[in-house]
Amino acid sequence: MTYLKLPIFEETGFVIVDPYDQSADPKEWEQLVYVDWKSSGDTRFAPLASAYGDMECDGFWNHVPPKTDKDGVWVPENVALAPILTKRALEFPTNIGRCRVIELQPNTYADAVYNLHRDDNNRLNPEGTGWIVRAFFNLTNDTESLMVLREVKDDPSTETLVPLPAGAQVVIDTQRLYHAVWHPGPDPRYCLITSVESNQGLDDWITERHPKVHAESPQLDPAFIAAAQAEAEAKAAARAAAIAARGKDPRFGDGTMALAQSGMDEYGQEVMSEA
Ligand SMILES: [Fe+2]
Repeated sequence: MTYLKLPIFEETGFVIVDPYDQSADPKEWEQLVYVDWKSSGDTRFAPLASAYGDMECDGFWNHVPPKTDKDGVWVPENVALAPILTKRALEFPTNIGRCRVIELQPNTYADAVYNLHRDDNNRLNPEGTGWIVRAFFNLTNDTESLMVLREVKDDPSTETLVPLPAGAQVVIDTQRLYHAVWHPGPDPRYCLITSVESNQGLDDWITERHPKVHAESPQLDPAFIAAAQAEAEAKAAARAAAIAARGKDPRFGDGTMALAQSGMDEYGQEVMSEA
């Protein structure tokens, strides 16, 4: 058994579709209720759909009963504050799971490289059903910001940089691609992130919007990339050493070092759950 995956993701793992013209829409993301949620960098999240409709952002598998990242339940308070964002998420003719707005404070390219991670979208997802990917709708006009995507975490040659102007719409297999956002700022970035199930409905939604599987990436100076890579790897090594210094934890046997490198915390939760 395996999962249903859409062929359009095979080559690069992501799809950019036509931007959404949100120029006439109110900035609903400024009115939402945000909750603190452990993530990399300086972030907050405003849930529109959560596991059971509560104002929280925990992985769906961390609830009782646990569930996979499908069948998200709308959070009444935030849905009332953001009817247009809710409507946009509902345009996906497929099952959607978590749906939330992320607020990201400014960072550096080296921060983004350090924050590169893969999502755990398909935990508890029954084989034979659709693979869960994530849709990113950029809300603020972050013309200098870039979604950093890599097939191999520490290999910049596998990198793609996706521009993030207002209205940009990108669907990414975030369990395949390492990802993080480089957001120079100076203001916070806001983005609507929705977990969507791969099926014919999603394929139709993508096909109708002139999909592109390559980005028009700016060229970064190789020396700039190398310096950021070195900074990120040094920071990751320091973190791994700090975790290892705690000694073996009986909950994880000999896996302490692997854990430190995995992007997961001591409880198996993603340290960096969003981009
Ligand atoms: Fe993520």
